[in-house]
Amino acid sequence: MGGMQHDHTVLFVDDEVNILKALQRLLRTEKMNVLCASRGHEALEMMERTPAQVVVSDQRMPEMPGVEFLSAVRERHPDVVRMMLTGYTEMNVAVEAINRGEIYRLITKPWNDDELRATIRQAFDHSDLKREIKRLNQVTREQNFKLQDMNRNLEQKVRDRTKQVAEKHQELRTAYVQTIRALAEAVDAKDAYTRGHSERVGVYASKIARQMGFPKEMIERVYIAGLLHDVGKIGVRDAVITKPDRLTAEEYDEIKQHPEIGARILEPVDFLSEVVPCVRHHHEWFDGSDAGYPDRLHGDRIPLPSRIILVADTVEAMTSDRPYRKALPLDVVVTELNKYSGSQFDPICVEAFLALLERQGDSFIRKDLKFDIYEFIEG
Ligand SMILES: [Fe+2]
Repeated sequence: MGGMQHDHTVLFVDDEVNILKALQRLLRTEKMNVLCASRGHEALEMMERTPAQVVVSDQRMPEMPGVEFLSAVRERHPDVVRMMLTGYTEMNVAVEAINRGEIYRLITKPWNDDELRATIRQAFDHSDLKREIKRLNQVTREQNFKLQDMNRNLEQKVRDRTKQVAEKHQELRTAYVQTIRALAEAVDAKDAYTRGHSERVGVYASKIARQMGFPKEMIERVYIAGLLHDVGKIGVRDAVITKPDRLTAEEYDEIKQHPEIGARILEPVDFLSEVVPCVRHHHEWFDGSDAGYPDRLHGDRIPLPSRIILVADTVEAMTSDRPYRKALPLDVVVTELNKYSGSQFDPICVEAFLALLERQGDSFIRKDLKFDIYEFIEG
């Protein structure tokens, strides 16, 4: 049988020893191992021990005919290239075998030496090609798995990163709000009587906004506008702001400047561009009366946050002590709101406040509560 010194192996199966010998002689100088068997069973056993890429079988053999043998090879070693070596008389069998896809080529006896050598070489090429395609498919499959794995990792990374960015964004917004609160506190601190006023207006206004069913961004905007509504008082003289007596007409005019001053202060801040008009119009009257300022807008022309803040501002001011009076009870506040609903106040804002009051009672105006706008919005 000889050693297996080559990469390619062909196995011939024929019951005639002379044919096998002739084939071995023919291929002696070729770069391939040549194995021989005289029975189908023997060949199948041999293939279990020694892999062959090409099998060439005679058709007419005792025990197991060639078609049956090649069919068994196809079943056990589907990658092996199968060929049939047959005499003219067995042609009909061989053609049927080809048609059933059992074999790659048919070689007729007697054969032409050069043709047979060429056919065997082609069979090895065919085998190599099939193996290469199989290998490439395998590589592609493995790379697809790797890619899917990488995609999964990437998706996870993107999710983690997005979460981090969202957290950073929230931290920044919280820091903004803290800065804004500090500014509002500085305004309120001009007058001992208004300490905490802006913060409470922001809280009341955001509660009214939520009662009215606004989306989160709108509630946040109402809160920030509430915090900043009186920021323009920074530009009004302390003597006017803290004056305990009745204001003169000139002093009142000076006070009435604060919404415009506030809007001018906030205008350069990109982040607050939506808040600016809310601050500017928080003293407009709903009916557009001359009592409102600065632009005597009416109805829908007044930004909704401004209309909400006006109600919250009034409620907060009336329920706080002033130099000239003590805090007023809520029923007086309700009477006042009802009296001016439709003239000074937007009726739907008054209605929303009254619905809240109905539910929460005195606790609505508790002054000592800690308030976190983002907890409130999410809660
Ligand atoms: Fe104001």
